[in-house]
Amino acid sequence: MEEGGQVEWFVHRFFERFGFDFRDYSRGSLERRLLRILSIWKSPDLRDLYHRLQSDPSLVSVFVQQITVPFTTMFRDPGFFFELRRTVLPYLSTFPTIRVWIAGCATGEEAYALAILLKECGLLERSLVYATDLNPHVVERASKGIFPVENVRDFVENYVQSGGTEGLSAHYMANHGFVQFDSVLRSRMVFSTHNLVSDSSFNSFQLILCRNVLIYFNRSLQNRVLDLFYESLENAGYLGLGPRETIVFSTVSDRFQRVGPEKLWQKCK
Ligand SMILES: C[S@@+](CC[C@H](N)C(=O)[O-])C[C@H]1O[C@@H](n2cnc3c(N)ncnc32)[C@H](O)[C@@H]1O
Repeated sequence: MEEGGQVEWFVHRFFERFGFDFRDYSRGSLERRLLRILSIWKSPDLRDLYHRLQSDPSLVSVFVQQITVPFTTMFRDPGFFFELRRTVLPYLSTFPTIRVWIAGCATGEEAYALAILLKECGLLERSLVYATDLNPHVVERASKGIFPVENVRDFVENYVQSGGTEGLSAHYMANHGFVQFDSVLRSRMVFSTHNLVSDSSFNSFQLILCRNVLIYFNRSLQNRVLDLFYESLENAGYLGLGPRETIVFSTVSDRFQRVGPEKLWQKCK
């Protein structure tokens, strides 16, 4: 795939022409995704792909959808959510107004899971959960809070393993093959596009979750994004990452301390 620096050529041209910046995404996974797209689109090479995108810009959003990885689920890695209940919710409860940022929210399941935790602790009314992603299609889907009913089994299993006791069904209505999460949850959630590569912070937060996103970035972009999170967190605020992500070896490593067994750090006071 690297023949003639095709990937470099493609990501630079794509950024200049369409404004989406994948130049600092980790090469391994980017190449795998591009190969997959070439095969799905039956394109012989990246030059052909680029020319197709250029002649039909409506394909760009399809491309962005396929190059990013919007997989997610509710209470993903239940142990992490168990730790949030145990460690972070008591801290959040000390604030009159609680602001949480879910960066790279995909279709929103993680943001709904967080809103459910807040509701079950009686904190939702004074909370705002900001859920952002670079991909406008997933943000649009997330804002509706509608998920296929066949996904609910996994949601429930994860919810119970994460320490949920009230029953997940208290938070949604089932309707014709779908479930829609309670409007009370959505009333405290703000959905918006936000690109971690190019956009700046938009508020200060007591908790930021950015799980299974940094893994797609190279070291230099990871550092920039971790810096953005550091600046966006209040003193003693918490940062949660995915199981294969870390701040160790990053430029902010000495400005956070690890908390508990999960990928959770607290900003040093
Ligand atoms: C694998 S999903 C993770 C979803 C969720 N956080 C979780 O752990 O289940 C990765 C998400 O990161 C988003 N993403 C990738 N690059 C991004 C960027 N530069 N800015 C914001 N979101 C980005 C993708 O669109 C995708 O929805």
